[in-house]
Amino acid sequence: MTKELGLGLLGFGTVGGGVVAGLQKNAVLIAQRTGMRLALRKVADLDWDRDRGVALDRALLTKDAMEAVADPGVDIVIELMGGMDAARKVIAGALSLGKPVVTANKALLAEHGEELFGLAARHGTNIFFEASVGGGIPLIRSLREGLVSNRILRLCGILNGTCNYILTRMEQKHLPFDRVLREAQAAGYAEADPSLDIDGTDTAHKAVILASLAYGFHVPMDSVATEGIRGLNKVDIEYAADLGYRIKMLAIIKDIDNSVEIRVSPTLIPVHHVMASVQGVFNAVIINCDGVGDVLCYGRGAGRDSTASAVLSDVVDAARDIVSNSKRRAPGFVPFRQDGRIRGISEARVRCYLRLSLLDKPGVFGQIGTVLGKHGISIASLLQKETATGHHAPVVIITHHAGEGAFQAAIREIDSMSVVGAPTVRFRIEDFE
Ligand code: HSE
Repeated sequence: MTKELGLGLLGFGTVGGGVVAGLQKNAVLIAQRTGMRLALRKVADLDWDRDRGVALDRALLTKDAMEAVADPGVDIVIELMGGMDAARKVIAGALSLGKPVVTANKALLAEHGEELFGLAARHGTNIFFEASVGGGIPLIRSLREGLVSNRILRLCGILNGTCNYILTRMEQKHLPFDRVLREAQAAGYAEADPSLDIDGTDTAHKAVILASLAYGFHVPMDSVATEGIRGLNKVDIEYAADLGYRIKMLAIIKDIDNSVEIRVSPTLIPVHHVMASVQGVFNAVIINCDGVGDVLCYGRGAGRDSTASAVLSDVVDAARDIVSNSKRRAPGFVPFRQDGRIRGISEARVRCYLRLSLLDKPGVFGQIGTVLGKHGISIASLLQKETATGHHAPVVIITHHAGEGAFQAAIREIDSMSVVGAPTVRFRIEDFE
């Protein structure tokens, strides 16, 4: 017999419209596959007039999200309002009523996950968040279920479509950062205020969710060493290419001696590595775990229909759990490592790309080599573009591994030298080893 579950949708924006469209398009398929009918019972939004490209019975609409949460016909709450305070309040309200919540709100989970997952546990219900990281890629499910018996050794992800689009266009069209950002905004890929994306916060939110899930403790946002791509100079993309690398905005999460290193920054990766071929708005994550080695998850990390696909898969999971009377069958977050430790970025061992601006005269390079050597940094390769003698020339150095602290100290020392014409530009390199 087909069971019917009632849904309350909070936030009828772009993704909300995609959820309604997906439900309408594939309701029969979902019923055939699961034996359940998913019925929209309430849709809450403040704006009822904007065209979302889907037909909706206006009797379902309300402006009061709490009314939708409390509606006795609503079994599952879908939070797509975004933002912090109002979303936190309605999610807490739904969990307190024992209703499972499906959300795409990565910022809220990264900042207040501990409180919300705790509330879900206390009320015997669950939070589903597949859409919060990697859009339509079934990534959370892979970590939570597919790899539940594996130790996660490393996660490396391209998790922000806006950054990846900008870097791809800069490389392929040889365009400067500001121009590509303006184009991305005009095309609707980048927000009018792109700070969350280009300064790395969005990637850091997603990294925190993945790290918490993989390592079993709530990883705080301030433990992520975050650098963005704002103002990235296209010459670095070109020099990196000359040396066999591509620059990607990367989240890197590593388990080293039982402590977690977590960082987000534009990073050089070998051009022949599979992650280097992730172009445009696409996302990808490599999960390295025992037993399997590398698992690659790739797909559309943003957009109406792909994000809605992740939301709907969560809705089906929540519905199945209700029907089988086991709302906490696979809890969203399980704190299995209370003593989890974060490794500060200063403890990291990294390889780097350095672009120095050096006066082109005899002996200068020897001085630089001496400073690097003093800090235990060894040079792997070197590129100098020709310029008129007596001027400042760009010199690009690829190093071997050394401590992050050594790089910071060496760069400080180099930048104080009279032969150096501009601050040194530095990117880390990831070899996926
Ligand atoms: N702003 C995000 C991105 C999409 O550019 O990837 C939502 O997570």
